[in-house]
Amino acid sequence: MAHIRTVGVIGSGIMGSGLAEVAARAEYDVIVRSRTQAGADAVFHSIDAGLTKQVAKERLTDDERQAILARITVTDDVHRLAGCDLVIESVVEDMEVKRELFEKLDRIVQPEAIIATNTSTLAVVELAMATERPAQVCGIHFFNPAPMMKLVEVIRPLTASDETIEAAVGFATACGKDAVLVQDRAGFVVNALLFPYLNNAIRMWEQGTASMDDIDTAMTGGCNFPMGPFALLDLVGLDTSLAILDALYDEFRDPNYAAAPVLRRMVAAGQLGRKTKHGFRTY
Ligand SMILES: NC(=O)c1ccc[n+]([C@@H]2O[C@H](COP(=O)([O-])OP(=O)(O)OC[C@H]3O[C@@H](n4cnc5c(N)ncnc54)[C@H](O)[C@@H]3O)[C@@H](O)[C@H]2O)c1
Repeated sequence: MAHIRTVGVIGSGIMGSGLAEVAARAEYDVIVRSRTQAGADAVFHSIDAGLTKQVAKERLTDDERQAILARITVTDDVHRLAGCDLVIESVVEDMEVKRELFEKLDRIVQPEAIIATNTSTLAVVELAMATERPAQVCGIHFFNPAPMMKLVEVIRPLTASDETIEAAVGFATACGKDAVLVQDRAGFVVNALLFPYLNNAIRMWEQGTASMDDIDTAMTGGCNFPMGPFALLDLVGLDTSLAILDALYDEFRDPNYAAAPVLRRMVAAGQLGRKTKHGFRTY
């Protein structure tokens, strides 16, 4: 496998944009692909806006900001990813959508390249088997917000080669992250442990044990967590949170993973958290 120089990112949501910034900061050339040019341009502008704030706070010089932006290309044309050494998919948490995308990427991206997924819970092996290069598919799971969070879970499906996993760990490390190796089980380490807690916080609120604000205050003050469960659910996105719980429940049938009904109703109502400015709280 060739040395990683150019990284493709598919998806222009919270994570796609964060991933592109992280890779460009680590001096990779980055090509971000969104389904629309407007979506792709929005990624570029949101990264620029974030970097400009960093310059104002004197955490970055303006020359550094310009150098990072110069490494990022945005496009609506998936064929522009053909020459990438690594492509990370970060679209909606839906197996059918991701599987189709992997089939397509496999036909487009050079055969030596690694194709990775940023899925939070889905079976990476299913995406690997949608390609003709299952040994070169793995999970590279960043956390939100990607530029700030130190952890990356590198997910090893049964099909991945040692070289692929080594390259994925090398990439995460070059991005300044701490990589942990995890087998391909729903939720990996972090979400398998985190989501029963988040789900039970919703149930506790529904049962009237305490108000949403008091539950958040209890968990920040009592456990030293940086934010409470409702603030975190709104940050993650309620649609993504529901998809994660459904995938965990599908795999393990543990009642702690059975999504609280109100979460499903809020997603049906389009109340998805910060990204729609309305979730458990209004933004
Ligand atoms: N939100 C988090 O905290 C978090 C953390 C780590 C990993 N992830 C994972 O990252 C991935 C993206 O999540 P996000 O939070 O950025 O979501 P998001 O809702 O912010 O963005 C989703 C992206 O998918 C695109 N999309 C939607 N439907 C599509 C389709 N049918 N075909 C192609 N693209 C489509 C959207 O245009 C958007 O660019 C998911 O797999 C999620 O599980 C999310």
